[in-house]
Amino acid sequence: MERTYLMVKPDGVQRNLAGEIISRFEKKGFKIVGLKMLRISREMAEKHYGEHAGKPFFESLVGFITSGPVVAFVIEGKDAVSAARDMMGATNPLKAAPGTIRGAYGIDIGRNIIHGSDSLESAAREISLFFKEEELVEYSREVDGWIY
Ligand code: PPS
Repeated sequence: MERTYLMVKPDGVQRNLAGEIISRFEKKGFKIVGLKMLRISREMAEKHYGEHAGKPFFESLVGFITSGPVVAFVIEGKDAVSAARDMMGATNPLKAAPGTIRGAYGIDIGRNIIHGSDSLESAAREISLFFKEEELVEYSREVDGWIY
């Protein structure tokens, strides 16, 4: 079982899409093991997006992610990292398949609604950046074992 870090970006919160987005992952069968709303500081944003420092879009990316609250959550389940990326769709919402989250709700690459870790290593790093150990909950559901 993998865990991955997901985050409804400020545009998704502003547009009241947080519940819809979380719901997609629940309905797919993933287990939510951490969930909170927060306002990301510039320092945290620079850490989170550190690998993109120096790229032309870095400043606007940091400015955007710190511009309003985000809803951060962690899901657990089979192949969670790549499955979540598939559910999100391509980075550019105009290129994202219509059934994906970005494909369904976005137009602008700078306002692409959701972030998801791109590898297991990033997931571990991002989960520990945004969640304390005690904020992640271990529990089992009646359905664990057959939901997939
Ligand atoms: S790269 O260069 O291929 O590694 O970049 P990519 O993985 O596609 O994107 C890294 C994050 O930057 C966001 N992004 C942008 N934001 C604003 N403007 C532009 N032009 C832009 N291009 C990429 C992109 O959504 C990624 O953020 P996350 O939060 O990971 O989706």
